[in-house]
Amino acid sequence: MRLKIIGTGRYLPEKTATNDDMAKLVETSDEWISTRTGIKQRHLVSSPEENTTYMATEAAKRALKNSGLKPEDIDVILVATVSSDYITPSTACMVQRELGAFNAVSFDINAACAGFLYGLNTVDAYFRSGIYKTAIIIGVETLSKIVDWSDRSTCVLFGDGAGAVVAKADETGMLACLQGSDGTHADVLECKARSNNNPYVSTSKDFDYVFMNGQEVFKFAVRKVPECLNQLLEKANLTVNDVDYFLLHQANYRILTSIAKKLNLPMDKFPSNVDQCGNTSAASIPILMDELNQQGVLKEGDLLFLSGFGAGLTWGAALLKW
Ligand code: UT7
Repeated sequence: MRLKIIGTGRYLPEKTATNDDMAKLVETSDEWISTRTGIKQRHLVSSPEENTTYMATEAAKRALKNSGLKPEDIDVILVATVSSDYITPSTACMVQRELGAFNAVSFDINAACAGFLYGLNTVDAYFRSGIYKTAIIIGVETLSKIVDWSDRSTCVLFGDGAGAVVAKADETGMLACLQGSDGTHADVLECKARSNNNPYVSTSKDFDYVFMNGQEVFKFAVRKVPECLNQLLEKANLTVNDVDYFLLHQANYRILTSIAKKLNLPMDKFPSNVDQCGNTSAASIPILMDELNQQGVLKEGDLLFLSGFGAGLTWGAALLKW
């Protein structure tokens, strides 16, 4: 048995901010953001109630509805996020409570933009070993609360949102997957947790924000994604021409075009919504997947290559039959 996706859902905040709105906050322009990243707007939460748990729960409800399963049918809830509402409990436990999915084991995965792929990998392993048979995997981020809104090099890039899939153990679906990490480059993309305020430690109580060496991450992504693709194609005994769509982490349209060029493939094989959503980290792939599913683009039997890459450094990839 292996992982088969049987339902998708997404939640995007109604509030959007355009590049011109960004130019009112920091010294930037629509021209710079559009040409360097392809981003035109991003969705941003606009109330304290519209938080990580809320967005994850809404996406999960929609994915459940799309799958035909009920909350009590679910064995596992995995939430990939770096922007939980609480240090503890996990977002997954909060989502479990909101859904009433009382039979599920629930936990979070912190693997940044590769988090959703780590989730798919983990659930596929559970299904293959026979431990569980159904799962909800969610990617959700409220990045707007951890970016520095005075730093133009990061704040214009990110957006908020959630995407979810419901998966069940089946004979078909996941053909091959992989995940990896390289902590030696941990410092190229980071956001420190709150500092220790015990009486024996003297530290500043300032919050920290996302820091990114964009060019290093860019180069890593353009090198790593084709590497992952080749490994998985070899494992599954397939060729690049067998792949119908490449659903890659939506960080920057230029990353997608560089990868397509490297693989000598047309851009219509690389669906993208980075123009509308910006970079939503762990949420970007399931949001895109739900859009394509709802639009009827994905057809039964289509071969998808998914790949996420980001802080850690982390990466993950999957070859999946729809
Ligand atoms: O999701 C996790 C994974 N993350 C990624 O995959 C992100 C990968 N990296 C990228 O997408 C790109 O590196 C960025 C979009 C982050 C940056 O694009 P870049 O072409 O690498 O620009 P840069 O960082 O080299 O900056 C070029 C110039 C700099 O000015 P100088 O030093 O050349 O005078 C920046 O200060 O652009 C300046 N700049 C801006 N100008 C206007 C940086 N941000 C902005 C901005 N508006 N928002």
